[in-house]
Amino acid sequence: MTYKKKLFTPVAMALLVSSMVSFNPVYAESPSMDDLKATMKKQLDLMKPELKDKVQGLSPDTKMLIMSILAMHNRYSDKATLRQVMLEVLQDYQGIVMGIMTDSSEMAADSARRLANHRIPMGGLLPYMGMENITDERLALLESFNDAVEGNAIKLAKAADADDMTQAASLLAPITSGCVACHETFRNKPLGASDLLK
Ligand code: HEC
Repeated sequence: MTYKKKLFTPVAMALLVSSMVSFNPVYAESPSMDDLKATMKKQLDLMKPELKDKVQGLSPDTKMLIMSILAMHNRYSDKATLRQVMLEVLQDYQGIVMGIMTDSSEMAADSARRLANHRIPMGGLLPYMGMENITDERLALLESFNDAVEGNAIKLAKAADADDMTQAASLLAPITSGCVACHETFRNKPLGASDLLK
């Protein structure tokens, strides 16, 4: 058993989820473990059987990781696709940049908090990842992408709250790297390719 694997015991993840739930930085009302399980169940019920079977077969550690990510969000859509959510995320990212460039700490902080608490698309993230990515190994990567994007967006909001725009600006690069790393891993390339070209 590797060191990394040990860090992800169900008990450790349960502690992580409960700490994220009680210290949730995005919003005051935090979901309970039962709320998170109910949310997962609702997402599973929307999935086609082949995806549902694969998700149900994931390890407890992976399921806890997915729930710990969901715990940081309270905006769920029953119709938005991940692409639509991503375009909103890009808009919030641009709002952060505009806030920094215009020295508007409120614009930067609000945009960063909205980005960190982006909408969760219909059925959750997994239906948009492709069947080949629904494995414990691939999905374990989500943790670092989530820390890089959501984690640093929350730090950026706090820096902006304190009018520290130098610190806020320095957090743009790690956020951007998180977006790019997740796209490298989970997004098909090239974006919007045509099958009508030779
Ligand atoms: C959890 C992984 C993940 C993270 C983190 C992530 N993205 Fe994405 N993004 C995706 C996936 C997967 C797609 C492709 C979705 C599809 O085509 O269904 C995508 C697509 C996009 C698109 C293209 C939308 C379109 O119309 O095709 C944009 C723009 C985008 N992301 C912006 C961002 C920005 C900005 C960030 C960081 C602030 C970010 N993303 C972080 C996974 C991620």
